[in-house]
Amino acid sequence: MPRRISDEIISNICDENDIIDYVSQYVTLKKTGRDYSGLCPFHSEKSPSFHVSREKQLFHCFGCGASGNLVQFVMRTENLDFVDALKLLADRAGIVIPEDDENFSSADHEKKKRILAMNKYAARFFYDCLKDPKTGQNAQQYFKKRSISWKTITVYGLGYASDRRDVLLKYLASKGFKTDEVVEAGLAVSRDGRIYDKFRDRVMFPIIDVRGNVIGFGGRIMHNNKEINGYKIPKYLNSPETPVFDKGRNLFSLNLAKNSKSSDIILCEGYMDVISVYQAGIQNIVATLGTAITENQAKLMLRYAGEILICYDSDEAGIKAALRAIDIIADAGGRSRVIRLNNAKDPDEYINKNGIEKFREAVKNAIPATEFKISLIKNKYDITYTNGKILFIDEAVDVFTHLKDAVEIDAYITKTAEDTGISRDAIFSKYREKTSKSSYKKIPNKTEYQKKSAQRQRETEKKERVSASLLEAEKRLLGLISQSKKLYKIAVSQIGEAEFSTDVYRRIAKSIYDSYSNGMPPDPAMILNAFSGSDISEASEVFYNLEIYSGDEATVRELLYTIKLEKLNIRISTETDAAILAQLFTERQRLLDEKNTWEE
Ligand code: UTP
Ligand code: MN
Repeated sequence: MPRRISDEIISNICDENDIIDYVSQYVTLKKTGRDYSGLCPFHSEKSPSFHVSREKQLFHCFGCGASGNLVQFVMRTENLDFVDALKLLADRAGIVIPEDDENFSSADHEKKKRILAMNKYAARFFYDCLKDPKTGQNAQQYFKKRSISWKTITVYGLGYASDRRDVLLKYLASKGFKTDEVVEAGLAVSRDGRIYDKFRDRVMFPIIDVRGNVIGFGGRIMHNNKEINGYKIPKYLNSPETPVFDKGRNLFSLNLAKNSKSSDIILCEGYMDVISVYQAGIQNIVATLGTAITENQAKLMLRYAGEILICYDSDEAGIKAALRAIDIIADAGGRSRVIRLNNAKDPDEYINKNGIEKFREAVKNAIPATEFKISLIKNKYDITYTNGKILFIDEAVDVFTHLKDAVEIDAYITKTAEDTGISRDAIFSKYREKTSKSSYKKIPNKTEYQKKSAQRQRETEKKERVSASLLEAEKRLLGLISQSKKLYKIAVSQIGEAEFSTDVYRRIAKSIYDSYSNGMPPDPAMILNAFSGSDISEASEVFYNLEIYSGDEATVRELLYTIKLEKLNIRISTETDAAILAQLFTERQRLLDEKNTWEE
């Protein structure tokens, strides 16, 4: 997957998608003056304060401040990152994004597109088979027995693959797909020189990526026999890896979980677990695809979640898998906790037995990863005996050596001392001994979430040192010069791009200046692509101009004056050196005199 897309392609994608068309899918827009307006999709309101400009290809809500270009609108409504949002828009416009992977060729791209198309047809076909009262009867019964409603079936696009040998093959042939292609898509297999449908007499679970593509399937038998006529059959059969299906980089139901408002994601093992929990009203839940969790999957979840709540099966295999998941999530730079479910083997069974409220309680009581590890070690030993204590402490301290927070380490050491009656000092020196021995200590990456909040903090601190009127003036100045080369020329002679007060403004100034010096008018929507997170609103407000932002040469001069004056005032208020202070006062006087001359 390319994580870098050239400006040229970005610009094509933006040109080929119109913001008004796209936003109209979500918001009923009415033409009001130069803009279109409607009810804001990002906060609830009764009168429309959400504006969209076709001219600028930007949206802005005067109620909640949500603001940005089309890509950013897609990022917010679909909860996608920048590249995925661009890809969605590219697909919509039929634009091919060349992958920076050297193996890329447009033939590969074409192939992927055909597999995705086949998968989509197949999903629809399975769904129709399930819906059909005759072919779908048993499968319908099966879902009913498992308390899955029709509504849930439609949300997940569940289906049924019939027991006949090649109905899907025939159906896909009628849509123009060759047998070889169907095999490559993992929807058919060849056995004894003949080709059969891969999924037969199974209920079907489409696996959908965050962009809404059907990338593969899982299919479950509708009974619990592991063998039929001496043949071993797997309970779940999954699509093989195909050009579009990478089991280590996707998660079941992340397409739905990403839209939940929750800041955590619950990770469980089974498709049915996810579906049951979702049906009961908890949407932030995903599952791996029949394989152990990978670091890529952990990173993928951490794009949407601050913390992962592991909810694996309560058997021994589940516990082992949970331990592995904890480490993999930590390697990916994230935090996890573990949800423990008593008297049920998995979340699906737990909910059916105890109801959703009990499950919510269990989620709330999820225990921190370290505590989970320690509790397991404790179970292994009888710590009423000396020998048990020694072994327990030794293993527990191994766990502590992976912690990085001093307070956390101290807290766990204290707790271990209390539990065993061994002195804190003794346990602590054991800890020291082990940490000094380990030659290399891994420093976990910060999660995106942590990085962003640190950056926000820095920005806020910086802003406190500049005045609101300075920021207002700079914002307006940038907005004005982005629309007029004449106004730009006045400004550029008096203020450098690096002299603006916030990082966002400096970056915008640079883009505007660069554009003009390359002989092109600045394109606000393109400039905004460089921004993410809370910066988007700050940047977008520069361009989202209403009448109050209209202005002429006199306005620009006035703004430049305000900017200079405000900057001087700030320096004066913080300067302690008398000589410099005197100089600043002189400068200020000159500025005031100047203004008087051009005001006459
Ligand atoms: P489980 O065996 O725990 O199934 O497998 P489950 O989710 O509880 O399903 P039900 O309740 O019996 O229907 C957990 C996950 O492991 C993978 C599937 O992804 C399944 O959802 N799996 C399991 C396979 O890929 N193949 C199998 O044969 C079994
Ligand atoms: Mn189950």
